[in-house]
Amino acid sequence: MSKIERANFGSKLGVILATAGSAVGLGNVWRFPYMAGENGGAVFIIIYVGCVLLLGIPCMISEFIVGRHGQSNTARAFRKLAGGTPRALIGYMGVLTGFLITGYYAVVSGWCLQYMWASLSGHLQGDPEYFKTYFMEMSSDPVKPVFWTVVILLMAHLIIENGVRNGIEKASKVMMPTLFVLLLLIVGASCMLPNAYKGVEFLFKPDFSKIDSDVFLGALGQSFYSMSIAMGCLCTYASYFSEKTNLTKAASQIAIIDCVVAILAGLMIFPAAFSVGVEPDSGPSLIFITLPNVFQQAFSGMPVMGYIISLLFFVLLSLAALTSLMSLHEVSTAFVQEELHTTRRRAALAVTVTTAIIGAFCSLSLGAYDGLTFFGEALFDWFDFVTGQIFLPVVGFLTCIFIGWYVPHQIVRDEFSNRGELKDYVRYFHRYLFLIKYVCPLAILFIFLHQLGLLN
Ligand code: TRP
Repeated sequence: MSKIERANFGSKLGVILATAGSAVGLGNVWRFPYMAGENGGAVFIIIYVGCVLLLGIPCMISEFIVGRHGQSNTARAFRKLAGGTPRALIGYMGVLTGFLITGYYAVVSGWCLQYMWASLSGHLQGDPEYFKTYFMEMSSDPVKPVFWTVVILLMAHLIIENGVRNGIEKASKVMMPTLFVLLLLIVGASCMLPNAYKGVEFLFKPDFSKIDSDVFLGALGQSFYSMSIAMGCLCTYASYFSEKTNLTKAASQIAIIDCVVAILAGLMIFPAAFSVGVEPDSGPSLIFITLPNVFQQAFSGMPVMGYIISLLFFVLLSLAALTSLMSLHEVSTAFVQEELHTTRRRAALAVTVTTAIIGAFCSLSLGAYDGLTFFGEALFDWFDFVTGQIFLPVVGFLTCIFIGWYVPHQIVRDEFSNRGELKDYVRYFHRYLFLIKYVCPLAILFIFLHQLGLLN
């Protein structure tokens, strides 16, 4: 049987930008800076980089290996390597995690769009109380957030429908550089404010006294989340890599971009916040309540500048969210297309419709409809908890065990070294294997038990 030409990325740059697009997301902006500032500044950043090097990159390489070897969606890629054993289920769990998270991630991405619109139309102005009320009313509204969730899903849909090279790659090549330029512009504006140095100090000032096991595990969890590990995304994208792509180098470059964006996000947020004396926080309230207020106050002498920075900030967030959402969407689209033998268009449509329904329910559970609360938590929070704290570590753990202990080392080595072509990298292979066999699974196990409160 002749081999059917599989869709692929057209260039090295495309590979890096698209995959970095998946990794660079809301997590970089709303969680990393705050964690760094709260947990020891420079010391935390060093620990975080250590986690990325020792654990994040090896896990990323493992997913790349499965995906590129399989040349297919995540479920089938695992199935090919599982040799008829139930281990194939790991891939299905990855796809399921990606699918469930798409709907929920789309809701938050939709908020970014809504805020972009609100800042453009000048509605994002008022006193601190106003920003709080605006967010509360917006997120619990029955119509608006659902509308924006659908809009951003449609945007991801339109990109994905055009395929890997003309859709995902092209879009990433425009969106990622734009995101970076916006980031640098806002960092520049933020660092020029009076007393900006206090924010820089907060982010970088080393404080060894803050470091405990909590901080280590927090850094570890954040590095996995930030690198989009265990959701099928890396595996799906890797199936579009060429056989010449150097997986270790690609993973390292993507990790560097992800770390740099996270640190720059800190330099965007803290100087502005400290300049106006506002205590920064994390999560949705940071980006949707605290920051709009901070930008407005910081540039109150130049309202036009405040308007522009606030608008640029939400454009940046929307871009970061959209590139990540696109990669999540692609996990399910590739799965449906290949497993149900249908066209890309139909597959994408099926995914868009079902995730829009999930997204709508998640969104409505935040206030518009009480019936979507279970055991005192909104459906939205359940999705966050189940995917992030249960599925992610479980799939990550099983992937390490799978690659380290079950897949024949010859296959792993072949993918790792491009069938021996990358001679310089062969010597790293044993180190990689050691990390993936012992260190990574143990580390993930610790995060998991810690998150469930079973380990302190
Ligand atoms: N890495 C993304 C961020 O930093 C979040 C994320 C986690 C993600 N897993 C993912 C995004 C899978 C896309 C695909 O916000």
